[in-house]
Amino acid sequence: MGTSIDPVWLDAFRQVFSRCRIGDDESVIVLAEAGSRAVLIELAEIALAQLGHQYYRMVLPTPASVAGPVVRSSGASVALTAQAGAVQALCNADVVIDLTVEGLMHAPETAQILQSGTRVMNISNEHPEALSRLLPDDGLKDRVKESVKCIRSSATMQVVSDAGTDLSVNLKSANTVGVWGWTDRPGTLAHWPGGLVVSFPAAGSVNGQLVLAAGDLNLTFKRYIESPITLTLEDDYITDITGAGADCALMKDYLASFNDKAAYATSHIGWGLNPAARYEAMTMYGRNDTNGTELRAVAGNFLYSTGANEFAGRYTRGHFDLPVMGCTITLDSQVVVDNGVPVQ
Ligand SMILES: [Fe+2]
Repeated sequence: MGTSIDPVWLDAFRQVFSRCRIGDDESVIVLAEAGSRAVLIELAEIALAQLGHQYYRMVLPTPASVAGPVVRSSGASVALTAQAGAVQALCNADVVIDLTVEGLMHAPETAQILQSGTRVMNISNEHPEALSRLLPDDGLKDRVKESVKCIRSSATMQVVSDAGTDLSVNLKSANTVGVWGWTDRPGTLAHWPGGLVVSFPAAGSVNGQLVLAAGDLNLTFKRYIESPITLTLEDDYITDITGAGADCALMKDYLASFNDKAAYATSHIGWGLNPAARYEAMTMYGRNDTNGTELRAVAGNFLYSTGANEFAGRYTRGHFDLPVMGCTITLDSQVVVDNGVPVQ
């Protein structure tokens, strides 16, 4: 698939930036690292220039990977590690167009940047064709906001499926955020593509059984699961993993390789709401051409994730995002996803 500039992609970038309502007097930094996707930098800068915005590009070295497990799909860029001057510059800006490979969503420096009032528009490391298929709109924003409201006003979440999932989540003190794909408010972060709601439960809130059936996904490995895996969850932690085949072997080995109990814990739970996100998308792009954000947003998936959850006081490097299809999600007594279909 080619990556020379396509006018459709450029138009998509202009539309998303327009939704960010960048003022004439606002300063913009295009944040990249050595490993960033060049075509995205080019598209962002041309779009900003066409819209008449002043910007400059900041490019950081991509830190070398440390020994041990290969970390992917964490949403926690390490590009700003020990780069206090760069962080300060980002704090001084009004808008950061985040083109780091992993994104600043869960980077340790992000809280400081947001607290300064800077808004961060992350563009996921996807092929621009995928981005332009997944343009956010007002309807998506409304659906996401409605879902956030539902979770925040509920005490419990139940998730069941024909495949055998039966999970209960205590939502008391959970921290819930919605992402619809752009940000126009100071001190907030959004990512494009968007269209999902995620909740970080407090410690000791998740119990039951999660069954990953054939056709569900592991986005760290960028694989559709082919043979079922059953995860037993006790007080947030995976305590047992059973199954046959490569998917189960990979999951067991990878989690063990961190030698860290927190790697087995729940990070976030939620569901996808973007009707434009395609379930088959991961089959259509080379591994280096997708970061899998589209699959996180597929309407009606149940997105279960392992790894760090700062709201439960747990930090770890590993992170699985696991979109599970065909689930029924109930908040208190309200069904919000019925057998894999959002109810709205
Ligand atoms: Fe995640």
